Amino acid sequence: MTAREAHHRHELRQSLKIVRDNPFGLPHETASQVVGALNQDLASMITLYQQYHKHHWIVEGAQFLELHLLLEEHYNQLHDQFDQVAERIVALGGLPVSGPAEIQEHAYIKHEDPGMFDLREMLEHDLAAEGTLASHLRQHIELASRLGDYGTEALLKAILEATEKRAAFLEKHLQEESLTRGIPAR
Ligand SMILES: [Fe+2]
Repeated sequence: MTAREAHHRHELRQSLKIVRDNPFGLPHETASQVVGALNQDLASMITLYQQYHKHHWIVEGAQFLELHLLLEEHYNQLHDQFDQVAERIVALGGLPVSGPAEIQEHAYIKHEDPGMFDLREMLEHDLAAEGTLASHLRQHIELASRLGDYGTEALLKAILEATEKRAAFLEKHLQEESLTRGIPAR
């Protein structure tokens, strides 16, 4: 085999299922369980990140600019956070999920159907997804804590707090009159 052929063999060096030893002394079994949970969070956060992009792009109406910017802020936050989750997975000796098929397989959040819906309905989809994310984060905080992985626990707690804040912001927008259909008569 030539060197060129060897280069193109695409040998798998680590499969998604394998968790290597970590450099900070967490038991392998702990790291494996936490990596599994974190990959679900990562896949779900990427899914919600994509859904926020969609809504950022297609939002229209009287509150266009405000919501356009709010949705951008939310996906930027999610990006920062899932980046930290992915890096934690690597530190624990695991591999982060990547690519549409893996993300869909691991996510507990489902992207809404294609197409445009009423703005209120789209924001309700985002709010429901944030609620699903928060409830899984709470379970995973509990898991990390029970297993003694306090580093992951601290990271997920910070993410949970931001997730709850995003949900509260969406909720406030959903209360506003201006998202009801039509413009109220004077
Ligand atoms: Fe943009």
